[in-house]
Amino acid sequence: MSKSLSRFSVSLPTALLKDLDQMVQQKGYTNRSLAIADMIRDGLVSHRQQTGEGEVAGTVTLLFDHHRSHVQETLTRMQHDHLHQVISTFHVHLNHDNCLEVIVVRGEARLVKKLADRLIAAKGVKHGKLTITSVGLDLPA
Ligand code: NI
Repeated sequence: MSKSLSRFSVSLPTALLKDLDQMVQQKGYTNRSLAIADMIRDGLVSHRQQTGEGEVAGTVTLLFDHHRSHVQETLTRMQHDHLHQVISTFHVHLNHDNCLEVIVVRGEARLVKKLADRLIAAKGVKHGKLTITSVGLDLPA
């Protein structure tokens, strides 16, 4: 697929542009257009997550103490309730008490967010975080 480029001019405070160029260099971008395009994509993904429109992919990371009664059963039941949003689950026994579970999710943003909220709020979960990205189809390179 061919990519067409559009040029547009942006006015920025001089100090802000200087900081941008410094960040571009530190992050290893070959030019500032590539860095700005990444920032725009990040903004679009975040906007779609908040508006709940379209399909997203992501991960839910959960930290919990497996000794807490029924926590593992609860998390498994919730994932069965959202069968179509769960792609894969990865479980790591961190130490004697704690487990880390990473659940790869995809689907309508609203449903993915709902599942993540339920998992993170489950009794026994010490810390949880949803990371959302795009499925890539609706995000120009
Ligand atoms: Ni474990």
